[in-house]
Amino acid sequence: MGENRVLVVSATGYIGRHIVNACLEQGHPTFVQVRPEAARDVEKVQLVLSFRRAGAKIFWVSLDDHDELVKLLKQVDVVICTVSHFHLDEQYKLINAIKEAGNIKKFYPSEFGTDVDRNPHIPPGDKLFTDKVAIRRTVEALGIPYTYISANCFMGFFLPSFAQLEPLCKFVPPGDSVVIHGDGNVKIVWMAEKDIGTYTAKSIDDPRTLNRTVYFRPPKNVLTMNEQVAIWESKIGKALKKSYLSEKELFAKYIQDEKHPWLTRAAAAHMYEIFHRGDLYFDFGPDDLEASVLYPEVEYTTAESYLELFV
Ligand SMILES: NC(=O)c1ccc[n+]([C@@H]2O[C@H](COP(=O)([O-])OP(=O)(O)OC[C@H]3O[C@@H](n4cnc5c(N)ncnc54)[C@H](OP(=O)(O)O)[C@@H]3O)[C@@H](O)[C@H]2O)c1
Repeated sequence: MGENRVLVVSATGYIGRHIVNACLEQGHPTFVQVRPEAARDVEKVQLVLSFRRAGAKIFWVSLDDHDELVKLLKQVDVVICTVSHFHLDEQYKLINAIKEAGNIKKFYPSEFGTDVDRNPHIPPGDKLFTDKVAIRRTVEALGIPYTYISANCFMGFFLPSFAQLEPLCKFVPPGDSVVIHGDGNVKIVWMAEKDIGTYTAKSIDDPRTLNRTVYFRPPKNVLTMNEQVAIWESKIGKALKKSYLSEKELFAKYIQDEKHPWLTRAAAAHMYEIFHRGDLYFDFGPDDLEASVLYPEVEYTTAESYLELFV
């Protein structure tokens, strides 16, 4: 049974719901903050009701309402923020309230991706990373205890889409052809969203994770793009037509070509960092923390079994 009382901030989002559900499943007294504006979205309200039915306490509190936020924080021990990467600066309001409340044992800023401190980031996709770095430095300067979660690539977002730029954001696997980044031999790390919730919730009461980064890298989910394509081909029983996009072409045709919308150029810059430069896979030092080592009891979803869902 989870001991610490947890507040999930911006809980109705894509990853937030998995964190809430995992906290509840692991028996943490779970508090949920939702912006009052979200009450105008019927799907969010239904989701909030599902949290309540599962045992969460719901608080419709604006991050602009400092006094109410401090009151809410005083009722919990740990705060996990899952705010959208377009609104990361909202976290400064939360951090100020955490500082004033003075009782929070651990803060998880909205991260859940690459370890933002490891490498320089490429414009125009760099803002969300530099915003996350700035939040880290603020948390550390204020002496707020923290855990940073590096969850690598969300499967739902990136695995079935095969990191294709055309079309961007098509969340089902390719039928006939695929563009492979580089030579396709860079190692990528995949994580199912439910497991991100589970591992994050597991770390809440774990003193080993205090003021540390926890990497999520279960061994069966480290795959190159060539391996990913080969798995998919074996599932559908046919070979895809393959073409290869070099680093030089990625920059010239996408990242630097202003005819593309900002989102495509930013996504291409992220793909450079992950699929060409290989930011997700590096040698761990003896002190680095990896979730499947810390919590070997979790039966995580493999990338292969996730792809099977699309057959
Ligand atoms: N590693 C990966 O592959 C990957 C993929 C996607 C995202 N991420 C990361 O995961 C984190 C969460 O992303 P997400 O996709 O789950 O977020 P999301 O679904 O886009 O949004 C999360 C929540 O942000 C809150 N929000 C939205 N607009 C807001 C506004 N104007 N002001 C304040 N709050 C607002 C909402 O909370 P309420 O309505 O509940 O108040 C929303 O439910 C981010 O740090 C992101 O970079 C990582």
